[in-house]
Amino acid sequence: MSFTLPTLPYTYDAFEPYIDTQTMELHYTKHHQAYVNQLNLVVEQHNLHKYTLEELIVSYNQFLPEVGLVIRNHAGGHFNHTFFWQQMHPKGVRNPVGNSAKAIENAYKTYDLFKVAFENAAKSVFGSGWAWLCIDEKGTLKIITTPNQDCPLIFDMQPIMGLDVWEHAYYLKYQNKRPDYIAAWWQVVDWGVVEHNYNTVINSGK
Ligand SMILES: [Fe+2]
Repeated sequence: MSFTLPTLPYTYDAFEPYIDTQTMELHYTKHHQAYVNQLNLVVEQHNLHKYTLEELIVSYNQFLPEVGLVIRNHAGGHFNHTFFWQQMHPKGVRNPVGNSAKAIENAYKTYDLFKVAFENAAKSVFGSGWAWLCIDEKGTLKIITTPNQDCPLIFDMQPIMGLDVWEHAYYLKYQNKRPDYIAAWWQVVDWGVVEHNYNTVINSGK
């Protein structure tokens, strides 16, 4: 199969003033597109068409190291960004709801305490990477970070929410103030989607 950019269900200016229009457009049309292009190139060069995106991600180390690294970076980049766009919405639910809200209360006591823990994780990423809210193999919520474009799936973690903290995600507006970008995230994330992600993972038994 060859991979394509997902269609965005909102316009580039949908998240002003929290994420600026130019960043949204560049992030989607240049950065995400580059991961897709490089992924398609390695799929073509090594005849990997039979694999799904998830299969490529979790089996990247079955390939020759130089091929596996390209898959790890670019299949991860495509997965992570596709995931990123779909959990954001300008009219989204801005507080946890349903089963995921209960799980957050169980794990972190309150939404505010969860936010502090997540923000601290996102701030702690050295260089480029991601902060994630995941479900581990026991069904427990975990906040993790991943470097570069590493996808939580390669660590047996199922993501239900994730924040891109690469500079390309925020530098035009926030420059070196990554904490301000992270704080603005709560005005962007759609907890209705996170709840859907949570239920999908729990019901799948992964
Ligand atoms: Fe990104």
